[in-house]
Amino acid sequence: MNIAIDGPAGAGKSTIAKRIAKKLGYIYVDTGAMYRAMALYFIRLGVSADDSVSISSKCNDADITIEYRDGEQVVLLNGEDVTGMLRTEEVGNMASATSVNGDVRKKLVELQQKLAATADVVMDGRDIGTVVLPNAEVKIYLTASSKVRAKRRYDELVAKGETPDIDKIEADIIERDERDMNREISPLKQADDATLIDSSYMSIEEVVDAVTELIP
Ligand code: DC
Repeated sequence: MNIAIDGPAGAGKSTIAKRIAKKLGYIYVDTGAMYRAMALYFIRLGVSADDSVSISSKCNDADITIEYRDGEQVVLLNGEDVTGMLRTEEVGNMASATSVNGDVRKKLVELQQKLAATADVVMDGRDIGTVVLPNAEVKIYLTASSKVRAKRRYDELVAKGETPDIDKIEADIIERDERDMNREISPLKQADDATLIDSSYMSIEEVVDAVTELIP
């Protein structure tokens, strides 16, 4: 049994996917974290996001492994636990820019399909229902307006003691959506058989209930 959740940045995919996985005893697979680990690797090497030749060749030297410790996903980059370094704006923007590369995608999609073949998973990302798990039993396309998504991100950063600029956050979100939805390979789009959930005016519990109702 596999559940695919796709949607734009900040729609609440990981929050919902984690809750559903916990409720059902499934494994939560955060595919964005894999693209982020790869992006961190390129940042550390000083590779520029538009240097597709270096990205294609260097991605083969990045060994990305997923482990589960106390039910939480841990991402290893060449053996180093980088889980805590992935959720920055810099890494997110680099992940969006470098995930357009076909060699990066091929490598990570294989890893994702292997994980889903061995366990019941709730997997979130951009191309899960369309490309990675086209036969997933349940497919969700989770979205929310860019204003609401920016406000959620803003609140998260304020809670961490930062003083973010909400307009800049929204502009970044719109730019990231543009790139993720318009890239040539595996763009973000709703699978034909996915159910659309707009979480703009829904609580986390309401979204979890809506997803749960779709599970056979
Ligand atoms: O979900 P996230 O913000 O952690 O993802 C970071 C970037 O990785 C996102 O902007 C696009 C890319 N990504 C992708 O191309 N395919 C996926 N399945 C997951 C993420």
